[in-house]
Amino acid sequence: MSLPAKKRILELHRLLREHAHRYYTLDDPTISDGEYDLLFHELLDLEERFPELITPDSPSRRVGGAPLKKFTQVDHRTPMLSLENGFGDDDFLAFEERLLRYLNRTAPIPYVTEPKLDGLAVELVFQDGIMVQGSTRGDGITGEEISAQLRTIPVIPLRLKRQIAGLLEVRGEVFMDKDGFSRLNEEQTLAGRPVFANPRNAAAGSLRQLDPAVTAARPLKFFAYGVADPVVTGCATQFELLRLLQELGLPVNDLTRRCATIQDVLSSFRDLQSKRLSLGYEIDGMVVKVDPFDLQDRLGSKARAPRWAIAWKFAATQATTRLIDVEFQVGRTGAVTPVAILAPVNVGGVMVSRATLHNQDEFRRKDLRLGDTVLVQRAGDVIPEVIKPIIDGRDGTEIPIMMPDRCPVCRHPLDRPEGEAVTRCFNPLCQAQRIRALSHFTSKAGLDIEGLGKKYMEQLFELGIIRDIQDIFSLSPEKLAHLEGWGEKSAQNVIAAIEAKKHPPLSRFLAALGIRFVGEVTASLLEDHFGSISEVSAASREDLLEINGIGEQAATSIAEYFTDATTRDMLARLQELGVTPAAKADKPKNLPLSGYTILFTGTLKTLSRDEAKMLVRGHGGQIATTVSSKLTHLVAGEKAGSKLKKAAELGKTILSEEAFLEMLQR
Ligand code: IVH
Repeated sequence: MSLPAKKRILELHRLLREHAHRYYTLDDPTISDGEYDLLFHELLDLEERFPELITPDSPSRRVGGAPLKKFTQVDHRTPMLSLENGFGDDDFLAFEERLLRYLNRTAPIPYVTEPKLDGLAVELVFQDGIMVQGSTRGDGITGEEISAQLRTIPVIPLRLKRQIAGLLEVRGEVFMDKDGFSRLNEEQTLAGRPVFANPRNAAAGSLRQLDPAVTAARPLKFFAYGVADPVVTGCATQFELLRLLQELGLPVNDLTRRCATIQDVLSSFRDLQSKRLSLGYEIDGMVVKVDPFDLQDRLGSKARAPRWAIAWKFAATQATTRLIDVEFQVGRTGAVTPVAILAPVNVGGVMVSRATLHNQDEFRRKDLRLGDTVLVQRAGDVIPEVIKPIIDGRDGTEIPIMMPDRCPVCRHPLDRPEGEAVTRCFNPLCQAQRIRALSHFTSKAGLDIEGLGKKYMEQLFELGIIRDIQDIFSLSPEKLAHLEGWGEKSAQNVIAAIEAKKHPPLSRFLAALGIRFVGEVTASLLEDHFGSISEVSAASREDLLEINGIGEQAATSIAEYFTDATTRDMLARLQELGVTPAAKADKPKNLPLSGYTILFTGTLKTLSRDEAKMLVRGHGGQIATTVSSKLTHLVAGEKAGSKLKKAAELGKTILSEEAFLEMLQR
């Protein structure tokens, strides 16, 4: 055996371990990917020459190794128990009461609360600090050996930071975070393979791969939440144990809380619930564990679950109900959206009676029929959605949904342009579109006129007081004060708010008009290029196409909007009323980004997207929203995907966030 080789191998182990930890766990690498690869290959070369020096904790074991023929069964030395489920405060309070009775105790029980991760339970066996085996939970008694697969998960240490003599059986959850899950499904789609239904299935499917190289390519993560036998650790409580596991280099979830009383547990639950949607990974509840191990021991276990813990699940965010009807709503741009009218049902604590069906392709694809029992889902704050019909629940009386051929509001024939998913009413005088357009004008996305929200705009439209944008600026306090829901004070406030918005920035005004394809970005392009409303309204389609960032559709739509006689009348009247949108003072030319059109993709490290866009505009550049010939630079953050690929293929200049920031200094 070669001594220098052995020494260098151990040195490489240490270096690679440290840099992987910095990269994956601390998110703070000190060497480049290339330098890491060099070290890694040096190790692989040495191990090929001296195979006897390969150890189970070598970082080289992370790449997978040879595929297995089949999984080997392993018995857990201590059974891996499951958890009893609870729903709502009452179940938790009943759990606490049971424990107090069982322990014959009146003093509060100290608890630890941990997020309940939605993944796959595994056991990692460390012998004298080295990971020697890993397995799935299986039925709790016997699992499958997946050591090679688990070793490919970067955050799982192959060697503990401190040597713990003898066996340490660590338990925890392998999971896939939301980003990793959507990236994996994107790849699956591109490769023509089926997508995974949820991160849990994706994690399980990735781990139970006979070929560990497949597992290695999947973005899996791990959190440790316990050990088989706490006695060997010398810890007295679950909280201490979690701290020890963390010190040993095992990832422990940072939303773990120590709770002195049940009040703390209740507030910990509320807190977790409120954070749930903003977490990068899915959780389905909170695990409450009695903190002191001596109390845990006294409580013991039932057949499958310990008495000292409970999985307090979040209320279901799915429910089934009946699809009673479909309403067709006409939006600001004439888009006709089918909306499901449902028998009211409680979905995760909220009563739901309407849900979006997006468009006709969607309800055809899902084969939804009137009278169907349907599965409804609410994902956080977003609008509830109909997932699918329950086919088994059909009795033959269900009626297929038909897209109307006329606008449900103005009876104008509907049209679905080639290649678009959306059916529209193209009647510019359609009442539904007008009221929505008017509400948009005063809304936050428009001029943001305080006191003229959707509800009031609808009222004023119904009463015939506001029929056009110009009517907003001819309102008087007298006209409003006597209306239902209004008074002297609110009328005066609204008039003052309107007055205050008579000289809006040009781009804001343009975006408020609700011209199709003109959002905030296009509106500021127009402002920068033309500088005044009269110039914008005089521009031809060809003039508009000259502008970097404005495509065919937007150019056509803008030109059509401003040649329309109704628009011309409105603008003339607004001018009479003293409404004068103003462009920002002339921008100096020759700014660092003058002439550049920049697109951001991926996650930026220091800037938010809005900040980045503001920097571009502030330095004379323009923002692109797609990779097109007009693009000059692409700034790629972390996890950049298809846009980066496309830009590279088109030979565009690709910048890192740092390089972009440097450009601004020039
Ligand atoms: S403790 C004896 N802690 O939930 C204690 N389990 O329903 C057994 N799980 O099989 C588990 N997060 O897969 C525990 N912080 C956590 C957990 C957790 C997720 C899973 C685990 C277990 C299942 C039980």
